[in-house]
Amino acid sequence: MTISRRRARAARFAAALAGLTFLLSGCAEDAPQDFLNKPAGEVAEKADRLWDLTFLIAVVVFFAVEGLLVFALIKFRQRPGREAKQFHGNTKVEVVLTVVPALILAGIAFPTISTIIDLSERPEGAFDVSVTAHQFWWEYRYENQGFVVANEMHIPVDRDIYVTLDGAHTEPVTEENEVIHSFWVPRLAGKQDVIPGRVTTVRLHANEPGVYLGQCTEYCGLGHAYMRITVVAQEQDDFERWVEEQLAKANKPKSGLAAKGAELFSAGQFAEGLNCASCHAVDPRLDENGEVPQPATGPNLAHFASRNTFAALLKEQTDENLSAWLRDPPAFKPGARMPDLGLTDEEIDALVAYLQSLE
Ligand code: CUA
Repeated sequence: MTISRRRARAARFAAALAGLTFLLSGCAEDAPQDFLNKPAGEVAEKADRLWDLTFLIAVVVFFAVEGLLVFALIKFRQRPGREAKQFHGNTKVEVVLTVVPALILAGIAFPTISTIIDLSERPEGAFDVSVTAHQFWWEYRYENQGFVVANEMHIPVDRDIYVTLDGAHTEPVTEENEVIHSFWVPRLAGKQDVIPGRVTTVRLHANEPGVYLGQCTEYCGLGHAYMRITVVAQEQDDFERWVEEQLAKANKPKSGLAAKGAELFSAGQFAEGLNCASCHAVDPRLDENGEVPQPATGPNLAHFASRNTFAALLKEQTDENLSAWLRDPPAFKPGARMPDLGLTDEEIDALVAYLQSLE
């Protein structure tokens, strides 16, 4: 065997191995975003049942069609002394090939449409959350309770949640926000797009308390892959306590490093005359029209220290990670809109101390 042939064989083997790895990763147990056979509530269950039915029919169709194809290839093939069978047009076969798929599609349409209609309605007594998608983070407005929170959505367990994906809230639609995002928490619900200038909805339901992960599933720019979603489902008591905590106003640190950080946060003069308060609010309370406190260019940082992650859930919320983020946000999270503010080490330490004081 020549060297080039051996190389080509090695390359084919490597490609096959890589392909197999991707394929088998689908069988991973307890992957956080699994949805096949792992629905965690009634909404995801309905979507899962529909998927099972459609998949089953697709498998039957696949083997029937491929089987007939292989049968025809063998039966009518060319043989010594015999040309391959030549024929063209067969009205009977064509009628069957039109009518049978039409009947199958009509059969699938019934459960599909009824599930879509069922899941699009707001159940009576549902709990409402409004979602706005930003490049590249999520904003959750609890309008009935009167506060906003970034990136970590909490919901009461065993209750219908009606989520309004409020693309109209991004108006006026500008070059920066004219992208489509998609909200998907696989174990709780199906996928729904967030479209600029339009309002869409999706229902969630979690049977058990727990943390359910998802992520933006429509390519929306450089930071798309880092636009993660966390839904924390809590028992009613715990959930109510969380709401109380969100509504509380953060105490301003009076002394020490955190106080220095608080000062820098709103009065610092960093790159281009910006400071943190140019883009981030720390008061979570909505105004009387249900609007989020300004500025809202960046995520609202109220109760920041009580979250487990930051930068749209990319990293664990530790002092080290926060420092690295503040030193150069776009390097830490590709596509991040927050600029490198040219902060000194002392400024970073003070700001981290302040952020960690925002309980
Ligand atoms: Cu937002 Cu992809």
